[in-house]
Amino acid sequence: MNKRTESGYACWLDYRLIPNEPLRSAYRKRCSQLVMIGDSPLLQAARRELNLALGVMLGEAPVEAEEDAGAELSLPVLVVGTIGSSQLLNPLASLYHFDELGEEGYVIHGSGSDDNRIYLSADADKGVLYAVFHFIRLLQTGASIEQLAIRELPSNGLRMINHWDNMDGSIERGYAGRSIFFHEGRFIEDQERVRDYARLLASGGINALTINNVNVHSQESKLITDEFLPDVAKTAAIFREYGIRLYLSVNYASPMELGGLSTADPLAPEVAEWWHGAAKNIYRYIPDFGGFVVKADSEFRPGPFTYGRNHADGANMLADALAPFGGEVIWRCFVYNCLQNWRDRITDRARAAYDHFMPLDGTFRDNVMLQIKNGPMDFQVREPVSPLFGGLKETNQLLELQITQEYTGQQKHLCFLVPQWKEVFDFDTHAQGEGSTVAEVASGRLFGRARGGVAAVANIGDDASWSGHILAQANWYGYARLAWNPKLSAEQIAREWIAMTFGLDSAVERVLLGMLLSSYRIYEDYTAPLGVGWMVNPNHHYGPNVDGYEYSKWGTYHYADCHGMGVDRTVRSGTGYAGQYHSPVAERYESTALCPDELLLFFQHVPYTHRLKSGKTVIQHIYDTHFEGAERAAQLAEQWKSLASLVDSARFGQVLDRLAHQAEHAEEWRDCINTYFYRKSGIADERGRLIY
Ligand code: GCU
Repeated sequence: MNKRTESGYACWLDYRLIPNEPLRSAYRKRCSQLVMIGDSPLLQAARRELNLALGVMLGEAPVEAEEDAGAELSLPVLVVGTIGSSQLLNPLASLYHFDELGEEGYVIHGSGSDDNRIYLSADADKGVLYAVFHFIRLLQTGASIEQLAIRELPSNGLRMINHWDNMDGSIERGYAGRSIFFHEGRFIEDQERVRDYARLLASGGINALTINNVNVHSQESKLITDEFLPDVAKTAAIFREYGIRLYLSVNYASPMELGGLSTADPLAPEVAEWWHGAAKNIYRYIPDFGGFVVKADSEFRPGPFTYGRNHADGANMLADALAPFGGEVIWRCFVYNCLQNWRDRITDRARAAYDHFMPLDGTFRDNVMLQIKNGPMDFQVREPVSPLFGGLKETNQLLELQITQEYTGQQKHLCFLVPQWKEVFDFDTHAQGEGSTVAEVASGRLFGRARGGVAAVANIGDDASWSGHILAQANWYGYARLAWNPKLSAEQIAREWIAMTFGLDSAVERVLLGMLLSSYRIYEDYTAPLGVGWMVNPNHHYGPNVDGYEYSKWGTYHYADCHGMGVDRTVRSGTGYAGQYHSPVAERYESTALCPDELLLFFQHVPYTHRLKSGKTVIQHIYDTHFEGAERAAQLAEQWKSLASLVDSARFGQVLDRLAHQAEHAEEWRDCINTYFYRKSGIADERGRLIY
């Protein structure tokens, strides 16, 4: 086993000789020759990848033939290129509507019997690259390639990764080492790792990224200046080869901090002019620059509020600066009062994004997208979906997810997040009646928007395995796959990832699949109960601390007393947040009887003796889930141990260490939460288990 495998560095592009001989020769038969038409940088990347993958997996790379090789081409051959670029691809033209594939869609076709050929084709080079990665995935997952008629189009136009990397090399909420882009205030010279990163992203269909933190400090503010643009351009060039457009997070106050102006007022002509000049300069270096991501008026970041302007004023001014060059503004909706008085029971952080942005619906430029976190708070293990989805109808939107496990175990705990994200994508907002899912809203389809998509905070760093916990790679992979197609099931994604990362052994697949698919529920069970959230240590957010945020300014409370707990967000007696949803969702959250158990404490303040739909009381539910969750966390480690002889010892050991820590830490969670609520409520566990 090689080093790239053992360290986890190769991730799911871990090409290995296919051990099953009949399967390998069946593949080899169909892939003995390769005709690659065209040599743009994207196609060169596709060719390199195909040769590498086939060479390793089949034991020999295909013979590359010219498209006019005549009789030799009667042998089995892989034909790769855009439609219309060679006559060899003509048989496809009548089978598929290539004009519907756009820049990124593709076709994989091969009918075995008639012409012995497999075609990987598209209308544009980028689609061909994606077809190649898909074809490689077929071989990695042991699929049959005898009859192929695959047509793929991405569900989301923008499929983005956001890095929260700082130029000193640190990563905000990073749990996997230091930045792969920056070190001590500068760009890292050796960019081999960045190239491998681009390959991994492209293999899942990611097409955009930001490399710097949304909190843009002084050094990072200069990324849009001549001092760093040559470096930014070099990085952008690497990603470009893999069809990925680079964006930057920018400091809203740049005209003052960089330009020496006395204001950053979006309506001041000199401010607009300054940004126009900055944009023009960026495009001199990077002609396909994606645009700006902006965190404004949020957690002490500057923004238009300072000047009595609103977020549309701010976003539109930047959008106008970028529009002549084809750039866009991604404006974050994570805006709330982070200096709240905990005694104030009226202000509700959950309401904030909707209250700020709904009145502005329809006032944003076409090249603005609002980036909205999946829930109204901040990436808790369980939150309702943000009511801005389905609320905003005339504004482009981008769903924001968090791959980095800030509140879900910081890559020390196994928590496969795809099931959580599936629930978000599948959530029915009822904005246009039944079927108005978040997937339809975010993509832009529901309201006929020209732009839309999904962004997620990266979970990687310069750790040998990229992600700290090797099994956390499944979240990164799973995000990319869901961004491409939210209809994929968590199980299918997990199966693909396991096969590509650990090979095709059926025991490995069975055990790991069980572990991944159960892990989200397990994590939820031993942490904060019933959707109430938080209960973590302040600042670093790791480990249990029930009152960690209870008397602080952040607006994240549970309101537990001796009678009950939960946040009353109803319209009838609470903050009114439940009313931000469409009917019948609003009624469901408003009613104690109808509210789903898992979100009960997010929406309702109830006595500990309140009976859930499950038949249990709230307090008994807390005890049961915490005992069971900790027990099941311990079983994860046992399940993994059963694979000792089937996984290489390096990866086996790395994962085992983390699972052992998780089991122990889950006990800490269990005991802190159970003890806290036992002492508050005075109600004993029906089953008499040990509570302190
Ligand atoms: C969370 C996170 C911060 C981050 C912020 C954001 O609050 O803890 O580190 O900056 O989200 O999304 O902007």
